[in-house]
Amino acid sequence: MTAAPAAPAAPAAPAAPAADPAVVRAAPPTADAPTSADHLIAASPLPRAEARRLLEQASGRRREWLLAHGDEPLDRPVSEHFLALEASRIKGAPLAYLCGEREFYGLTLEVDQAVLIPRPETELLVNAACERAPPGATVLDLGTGSGAIAIAIAVTRADLQVVATDRSGEALAVAARNAARHGLAPNRLGFRTGSWWQAIAPAERFALVVSNPPYIADTDPHLAEGDLRFEPRHALASGSDGLDALREIAAGAPAHLAAGGWLVVEHGWDQGAAVRSLFLGAGLEDVHTQHDLAGHERLTFGRAQ
Ligand SMILES: C[S@@+](CC[C@H](N)C(=O)[O-])C[C@H]1O[C@@H](n2cnc3c(N)ncnc32)[C@H](O)[C@@H]1O
Repeated sequence: MTAAPAAPAAPAAPAAPAADPAVVRAAPPTADAPTSADHLIAASPLPRAEARRLLEQASGRRREWLLAHGDEPLDRPVSEHFLALEASRIKGAPLAYLCGEREFYGLTLEVDQAVLIPRPETELLVNAACERAPPGATVLDLGTGSGAIAIAIAVTRADLQVVATDRSGEALAVAARNAARHGLAPNRLGFRTGSWWQAIAPAERFALVVSNPPYIADTDPHLAEGDLRFEPRHALASGSDGLDALREIAAGAPAHLAAGGWLVVEHGWDQGAAVRSLFLGAGLEDVHTQHDLAGHERLTFGRAQ
């Protein structure tokens, strides 16, 4: 996937502070000088909200507790844990990985370095799926990662069953924990391992297939920047033009869509024309593209005959 005018075409990530050796704490706490939450936050080079979030993580205390007890001495292991998290953040590690979770579609999801951090613009794909899925249908999510799309669909539409796939067993383990966390039993959301359509039985057909596949070009310099440096390469990059996964998904869709069923995919801001062409080449109909809130082509739709 190539770059958007001002931001990576990969789902945009919050900017991490630069790994700048000059960015250091004003006064590192010493062994004989216990420190407080207020002091650690005030002395942190991180934005205040980030420092506070990392201190919540290090202490296991909620924001309200830290506010009410901000001037009390912290246990040494807590301040040391905070300083270790702060140091990782200064080097650019994503806040979501340091805290082990990210909000998506109003749901808190576990994330770790086995999965892409779900992006806000992917919520458009969930909206599109929930609007188009026929009552009682089974929906397929290809390349589920943390399970974000599949879980949001299943939670929003209690009448649907969802099947979610990924080639990464580590990602599926995270997705399964997230499904359990949101009360989704295997009869509502089932997981399969395999590369794209290979995870699906030859005769299996779905009323709706969604995917947010990797779509960055292998050589895109954005892969070496910001949060993308820390995310799994196989979740981001897909061949010399970023379209390898989308090619495979489009080509296999007609064999796995029910008559009139929709394929909806997320893609890069400059890939709309290429993806429409892949969909038309696969024989899909009513092919069209939806813009995201930033005005970029983001979702392409196609319907089986
Ligand atoms: C861009 S991430 C999207 C993750 C999640 N759906 C989301 O929107 O947050 C793409 C996902 O596709 C998976 N993937 C990459 N290659 C795959 C393949 N050949 N077959 C199935 N899944 C694949 C990755 O492991 C990753 O979880």
